[in-house]
Amino acid sequence: MSTRPKPGCRASAHPPPDCNATVTDETKLYRATPAHAEIMAAIHAAAFPAHDAWSQAVFGQQLELPGVFGLLHASGGLILVRVAADEGEILTLGVTPEARRGGVATALLRKSAMIAAGMGATAVFLEVSVANSVALALYTRIGFATVGRRRDYYSDRSDALVLRLDTGEPG
Ligand SMILES: CC(C)(COP(=O)(O)OP(=O)(O)OC[C@H]1O[C@@H](n2cnc3c(N)ncnc32)[C@H](O)[C@@H]1OP(=O)(O)O)[C@@H](O)C(=O)NCCC(=O)NCCS
Repeated sequence: MSTRPKPGCRASAHPPPDCNATVTDETKLYRATPAHAEIMAAIHAAAFPAHDAWSQAVFGQQLELPGVFGLLHASGGLILVRVAADEGEILTLGVTPEARRGGVATALLRKSAMIAAGMGATAVFLEVSVANSVALALYTRIGFATVGRRRDYYSDRSDALVLRLDTGEPG
């Protein structure tokens, strides 16, 4: 096993990331505030190629916007969601390479869908590249269905699929 610290362990956070975590459960999820923008940027940089990584400033700004919330997973994962009226939109989702395949993204998606439903969303949408087979496998397993396609959407000219997850009537 690598002794290299996880990216999420380099930045301060409250509560602190669990650097020894290998399994996931809901107790490892916590709500992000603008004070977590630095650690969110570190996790995002580890999860995405450099040209797709979001800065600390972007996370800080997003988390100040009405209807936007974020969740962190102590093993090294994040999700950012915007809710407007009865629709939620997943703005970004990423898990550090060391924490993958342990259910982190599943926990983040399920919890954020519950929170979005509690805010009035009856469905949650996201866009994903047709080339991102790993993410598509994840979303299909969670229960997302394809409801649209945007041609040449990404900088590499790949199409985006629009996926939808019904969250039920607002509680
Ligand atoms: C996509 C991503 C978020 C998945 O995170 P994760 O925590 O590893 O996902 P989970 O452990 O919850 O996986 C749940 C299911 O998704 C599918 N899945 C996840 N990773 C997979 C892989 N590498 N290959 C095939 N299926 C995969 C499997 O069905 C998996 O269930 P299983 O492990 O019981 O077989 C992560 O790989 C990542 O951050 N990738 C880079 C950023 C990205 O693409 N984000 C999404 C942009 S839309």
